[in-house]
Amino acid sequence: MGIISSKKSSRSSSPSLSNLSDSSLSQKEPFPNQDDSDQIYPFKRSQLEQMELWQLHHNLSKDTWGDHFIAPINEWLKIGGVKVLDMGCGSATWLNDVALEYPLSKFFGVDIQPLIHKRLPSNVEIIQADIKYKLPFAENTFDFIHMRHMILFFTEQEWSYSVIPELIRILKPGGYLELAEADIEWYNVSPTTRLLISAAHNIMRQRGIDPFIVNRIYDILHSTEDLTSIYHKIYEAPIGKWAKHGEKLLYICSRFFATSRIPQCKILKISEQQFDEYLNQFEKDVEIFKTYCKSHRFYAAKKFI
Ligand SMILES: C[S@@+](CC[C@H](N)C(=O)[O-])C[C@H]1O[C@@H](n2cnc3c(N)ncnc32)[C@H](O)[C@@H]1O
Repeated sequence: MGIISSKKSSRSSSPSLSNLSDSSLSQKEPFPNQDDSDQIYPFKRSQLEQMELWQLHHNLSKDTWGDHFIAPINEWLKIGGVKVLDMGCGSATWLNDVALEYPLSKFFGVDIQPLIHKRLPSNVEIIQADIKYKLPFAENTFDFIHMRHMILFFTEQEWSYSVIPELIRILKPGGYLELAEADIEWYNVSPTTRLLISAAHNIMRQRGIDPFIVNRIYDILHSTEDLTSIYHKIYEAPIGKWAKHGEKLLYICSRFFATSRIPQCKILKISEQQFDEYLNQFEKDVEIFKTYCKSHRFYAAKKFI
């Protein structure tokens, strides 16, 4: 288990740190009222449960990748004056840690929901907005944009025609965009695990979400023609106690299934009691089959043209 592959394309370009423009905070179009979290969440969870899982996932991400990002921006961040956006920041776990580490840079978090988060460092600002609409920032605002774990929220059309183009619009020429996504496909699976994961795929498809979109992200980034030096790295992440860091991921995966209990039961035509039996079986099987999934990271620089 570990980082198994990386891909790189095109020429590299150097970053620009000068002319840090202030973001324009006027919102051009309204975003929908998100009181009903069902509108955006394919799987039902309470906000506290979400926060607990995001924190766990955040810790796991740091453990497996060794840092909070892989784009070559440490030195800029240390020097300071760099503007960073965490898109879909959730409860700001990433922002909190990175902003504390680089106090001379300025961090923005954008989320569609007004989420609860702990007291944040003074160099962090949170803004509520929807990436599918125009974001309240001027063109060429950010030196670095990070976006993580958004696979459940966008259709392929949205990735290609609204999300990625909007992120590129607000990224400075020479600035870096980094995406971190977990694969919703698992490997070395038992028949029970296959049933559960296939049902989860069906729930996603019912919402217009492609469960395999992570395999298209590199091509989507490439096809914009605005990005260069595109890297794709994959980490094989064990699910279960059979390997290092696997226990945390097993917990996250079990919660992932448990929060989709009702739709899973409908799709699999089973009772909730049977579903619990499947879930118990899944937790045992991952140890025997040595089940794993893949964690993907992409980064790219915006061209200077
Ligand atoms: C799975 S969470 C990930 C949170 C955070 N990136 C992390 O890694 O801890 C996804 C976040 O994206 C937000 N989100 C979903 N759709 C969005 C949209 N269209 N615009 C902005 N944020 C969105 C959700 O509200 C949620 O906080």
